Amino acid sequence: MDEAAGMIAGIEPSVERGLACVRIANRHGEALVYLHGAHLASWRPTGQREVLWTSARSAYQSDKPIRGGVPICWPWFGAHPERAELPAHGFARTRAWAFAGGSTRADGATSVAFVLRDDAATRALWPRPLRLRYQVTVGPALELRLQTTSADDRPFSLGGALHTYFAISDVRAIGITGLRGATYIDRMRDSARETEQHERLTIATETDRIYDSTTACALDDPGWSRTIAIAKTGSRSTVVWNPWIAKAARMADFGDDEWPGMVCIETANAGDASIAVQPYGYHDLVARIEVQGR
Ligand code: BG6
Repeated sequence: MDEAAGMIAGIEPSVERGLACVRIANRHGEALVYLHGAHLASWRPTGQREVLWTSARSAYQSDKPIRGGVPICWPWFGAHPERAELPAHGFARTRAWAFAGGSTRADGATSVAFVLRDDAATRALWPRPLRLRYQVTVGPALELRLQTTSADDRPFSLGGALHTYFAISDVRAIGITGLRGATYIDRMRDSARETEQHERLTIATETDRIYDSTTACALDDPGWSRTIAIAKTGSRSTVVWNPWIAKAARMADFGDDEWPGMVCIETANAGDASIAVQPYGYHDLVARIEVQGR
């Protein structure tokens, strides 16, 4: 990693909290990606506050996901559809990814790439060849691209998410636009199917919803005078999650009083919206996140 990373200005290998990571710094902003899970833990556009929320109680251990930032949920979302004993949200977020180089663009954006291949441990959880590439680009926007390339002669069903945790002024004050008219599975109400009626969705209790057939949405945070626009491709659902008081208290890696400061708006293929990956096929999951003043 050292040699490849050292060759590109603005990309520095580092170790934070005992884990290897890559730091990106350019005129557009700064970011930090751990090799553990290829986990983007921080993105701060120049002149802005931090955009991503990370729990002060997060573990930083090779066998546990980091609580916050952008965990990569892959190849399933939530509980495994048939085998409840398998890890929630798949295993990509707890594997050691390899750094695969960086590059810069004419507009000053910097990209870093990470790859994950199958090994004995992944095949025990998911008995297939595995070819994953993840590219993080820090430019005028943050661009996240997760590429799944099938090396398999059988089709498979792919779920997952770029499980983005946003730092916000107060979950009780923010609004999410762009979801009106979308049907959703309300996991707080026995997975009842509902249709979103609100132009500006607000959150006033524990919320765990999978919205279908979504395209772009935006997070409006009046307390911090900013709107975060989230555009995407290759994603058929958007998950909105805040654990509120009781669930936060039950989670070992989530501070009891941290829930007001975060909301997850996840670029996902979740619930019924998995992707059919054809033999030797290909799927690209992309999120483009941009901070706009109000
Ligand atoms: C969300 C799910 O995506 O992730 C929630 O909708 C879940 O149900 C949350 O609680 C956190 O999951 P985990 O596995 O990181 O604790």
